[in-house]
Amino acid sequence: MKRSTLILLKTLVWLACLGPLVWLLWCAVTNTLGPDPTHTITFATGRTALRLLMISLVITPLRRLIPSLSWLIKFRRLLGLFAFFYATLHLLTWIGLYAGFDPNAMVADIIKRRYVTAGMTAWVLLLPLALTSTNWAIRKMGGKNWNRLHRLVYLAAIAGVVHYWWQVKSGVLTPIQITVVLAVLLIARPVLSWMQRRKAVAASSTRTPAPAGD
Ligand code: HEM
Repeated sequence: MKRSTLILLKTLVWLACLGPLVWLLWCAVTNTLGPDPTHTITFATGRTALRLLMISLVITPLRRLIPSLSWLIKFRRLLGLFAFFYATLHLLTWIGLYAGFDPNAMVADIIKRRYVTAGMTAWVLLLPLALTSTNWAIRKMGGKNWNRLHRLVYLAAIAGVVHYWWQVKSGVLTPIQITVVLAVLLIARPVLSWMQRRKAVAASSTRTPAPAGD
C-alpha cells in the first residue's frame, strides 16, 4: 500500500475514533448532554470503548480469511489504544461523577455492584496491553511473549460484554449484538488456526519429495 494512502487512512481512522469525544465535548459546550449528563457520558464512552475493542479484534480473523487485507494490521494498535482511551474516560467518569472521587464509595461500588466488578476487570486487563503497545515493549518482551500477553484482549472483551449485560435491566437485550460479534470472533480464532494448519499439512504432503541422492 502506498505510504500516502496509509497516511490518509490513518488520518480518517483517527478522526473517526475522535468523533465520539468531539460529540461529547460539543454536547457539553452547548449544554445538550440531556437530563442526565453522567449517564450520557458513561454510556457514550462505555459503548465506544467496547465497539472499538471489537473492531480491533476483527482485524486478525479478517486478515487470515482475506490475505490481501493484511495491511489492516497497521490499524490494530491504534484501535486498541483508542478503546483503552475511551474505557479510561469511562472509568474517570465513574470516579468523578458517580463516586465523587470518594475511595470508600468506589470500593463499596466495586464490591456491591457486580457489573462494576466486571467493568473494572475489563479495564485492568486492558491496562498491560496499552502499556506494552510500543515497539520498544515488543522488542523488550520478544514477539512470542508479547503475543501471549496480548491474548488477554479476549478476556478483556468478555469481561466488557459481561459488564454490559450485568448493567442493563433484566429483559433488556441491547448487548445481544455485540455479544454475537464477540462469540463469532472467539469461534473464528481456533477455526481459522485449524484451517491454516490443515492447509499447511496439505501443502507439505503435496510437495513432491526430492528424488533420492539429490
Ligand atoms: C473501569 C471500570 C469500569 C467502571 C467503573 C464502569 C462503570 C460503568 C457504569 C457505572 C455504567 C453505567 C451504568 C448505569 O448508569 O446504568 C457502565 C456502562 C457501560 N460500560 Fe462500563 N465501567 C467500567 C469499565 C468498562 C469497560 C472497560 C468497558 C468496555 C470495554 C465498559 C463498557 C460499558 C458499556 C458498553 C456500558 C453500557 C452502555 C450502554 O448501556 O449504552 N465499561 N459502566
